[in-house]
Amino acid sequence: MDGDPFNAKAYELPLLIRLVSQMEIRKIAVLGAGLMGHGIAQVASQFGEYEVYMRDVEQRFIDKGVAMIKDSLTKFVKRGALTEDQANRVIQRIHTTTNMQEAVGDADLVVEAAPENMELKKRLFQEIDKLVPERTILASNTSSISITLLAAQTTRPEKVCGMHFFNPPQVMRLVEIVRGQLTSSETVETVRNVSQRLGKETVLVKKDSPGFIVNRVLIPALNEAITLLQEGVADPADIDKAIKLGLNWPMGPLTLSDYVGNDTSLAVAEVLLNESGDTKYRPPYLLKTMVRAGLNGRKSGRGFYEWTEKGEIKQK
Ligand code: 3HC
Repeated sequence: MDGDPFNAKAYELPLLIRLVSQMEIRKIAVLGAGLMGHGIAQVASQFGEYEVYMRDVEQRFIDKGVAMIKDSLTKFVKRGALTEDQANRVIQRIHTTTNMQEAVGDADLVVEAAPENMELKKRLFQEIDKLVPERTILASNTSSISITLLAAQTTRPEKVCGMHFFNPPQVMRLVEIVRGQLTSSETVETVRNVSQRLGKETVLVKKDSPGFIVNRVLIPALNEAITLLQEGVADPADIDKAIKLGLNWPMGPLTLSDYVGNDTSLAVAEVLLNESGDTKYRPPYLLKTMVRAGLNGRKSGRGFYEWTEKGEIKQK
């Protein structure tokens, strides 16, 4: 295809994008020490060697997050990817606090990783916008919520961006970078650069669209697997085995929903349904009742399966 003018233009574009200026990032604040927040704080310290502040609302959530980081670091040390010394330095670079001002006060980048609740995230963006310097980029790890809506809570919509990690963030290689309606190219390039420094591959979601790329494909698949169970077509273990072996997924869809949290699967499905109006995203009734009963999966000890304290499925 050499010499094809259409192709030549396609190759020029990445170069143009790279010429857009980027901001220097030194300190990263991660809001939330839960399933995603602790992992994002860890990769920022471990791979990016950034100074990191991890903030949550109560000390017990921070303690749990720190324990999860230590567990994960032990895995890296066991497989020879880190020395004990390096693991200790990863921990030392992560400062923890329940104080929002201390966490975000002079941060260059804030990564919000709070639960998938629109009102909560809107309030957080209003609050942090008032506390951070003018230069600070505000990124959200939301799975589905409109970046433009979050940006509209602030006085800096050009500095608000989606930075969507996947669970477990220490292992999963992708970050979706989501451009809101007013996000600047400098913000996109800075977040892309940080993600790459964390060892991640990135994709750009050019338009703020509910569920971005991955969850738009994943959620209908999870809904369908749960509907199979609801209809009594097969047992959970067989539904998971079928998809694992038949489609070569690393874990079956019911295990995966338990793994990311059934409350999160439900919240994402509801945003997709409400924002798009398309009934293909409607969550099955079984998922709703499970969440009402607190059967959120790995983090609550029970979901489609029973889980051990160490985060493994209990063998019957
Ligand atoms: N920290 C460090 N290392 C970890 C880890 C962690 N938190 N979790 C797993 N690992 C390591 C293990 O130590 C192991 O290393 P080894 O091969 O050197 O022994 C390796 O990863 C594989 O782990 P396991 O042997 O325990 O189990 P698996 O082979 O099943 O791998 C998995 C675990 C990587 C989680 C794999 O099952 C997987 O990829 N599952 C699918 C995950 C997925 O799809 N995530 C995306 C969910 S959707 C999402 O997050 C979007 C949100 O918006 C909803």
